[in-house]
Amino acid sequence: FKAEIDANDLDKGAYPYYMIKEIDEQPAVIRRLIQTYKNDQGQFEVPADLITAMQQASNLHIVACGTSAHAGWVGKTLFESMVGIPTMVHTASEFAYHQPLLGDKPFFIFLTQSGETADSRQALVKVNEKGYPSLTITNVKGSTLSREAGYTLLLHAGPEIAVASTKAYTAQITVMAILADVLSNHDYGFDMGHELSIIATAMESILSEKDTIKAWVDANLMATRNAFYIGRHLDYYVSMEAALKLKEISYVQTEAFASGELKHGTIALVESGTPVIAVVSDPTTASHTRGNVEEVKARGANAMVIATQDLAKEGDQFVVPSIQAELSPLATVVVTQLIAYYTALGRGLDVDKPRNLAKSVTVE
Ligand code: G6P
Repeated sequence: FKAEIDANDLDKGAYPYYMIKEIDEQPAVIRRLIQTYKNDQGQFEVPADLITAMQQASNLHIVACGTSAHAGWVGKTLFESMVGIPTMVHTASEFAYHQPLLGDKPFFIFLTQSGETADSRQALVKVNEKGYPSLTITNVKGSTLSREAGYTLLLHAGPEIAVASTKAYTAQITVMAILADVLSNHDYGFDMGHELSIIATAMESILSEKDTIKAWVDANLMATRNAFYIGRHLDYYVSMEAALKLKEISYVQTEAFASGELKHGTIALVESGTPVIAVVSDPTTASHTRGNVEEVKARGANAMVIATQDLAKEGDQFVVPSIQAELSPLATVVVTQLIAYYTALGRGLDVDKPRNLAKSVTVE
């Protein structure tokens, strides 16, 4: 495997924007990660000293900003369900100044595409002052957070140029899934390598339906000023990322709600025609989220559903191939990335360079 990326990766080629090129690269990035992190025996492997340090930890703390923090929530689920280690997710700008109780032996994971985000770096400085062990998961070899953390795992995603992060999110979740697989002694009940390769194929199938998603977006999101994503557990975590993607490049005010919370206040925001997109990939919560879809419909919402095949129903707007439930965000997020892309494109906006935003934020 050759980790270096050739010059073509900096070239948009036939693509109108880097964002759509980077969305399209995701199946290849997943396959590259499977190949990179597998040893000669076909098992995932990361440096043994990293595993020893993580095995000694009482708690994991994931620190990140923006899209990386959203990947962190999925990582928390993977570490807690597959490894059984309590894991917290911290917004870096909050953590650096107000540290919560950390547990006896905390271990820190910094998630950062660029490896340069000032808020995350400031948190790492504090962690280093206290002498806690740390790992940076980043796309940029030799970046500041990589140099200053005890350990580094690379995302191998190739340069991400569009301000809106896409392939880094799925690569971060994939690397954490690989790490959780190693920490669980490959004994969690499914073959992680196999499931990840199924996901790469599922992503390709979603990417082959861009026209369907574009038509859906053109019919439902072109004129709206606001929109909501709803879901439960992993579907909620993916909703947070979906909402960020849509708002940051299309300027549609979009919020994600845990669907069980709707009745506690947020359903008051639903008016006639408000787009509400539900993500349904979790067998244990699907019927509850379906119930929420009916509730918002009854208030006049333009309700739409993204569901995995096993949970799909007649009338769902988009059906994603069924995949391992713990890893569902890797597939469902791709649909939402395309929703954001086509909404911004349809509105004639500069998809790659949204107003007021920077790719790498090096001020606190
Ligand atoms: C900026 C970017 C986001 C990114 C965030 C964290 O705000 O616009 O796309 O998620 O920084 O960046 P990092 O490089 O630390 O992952």
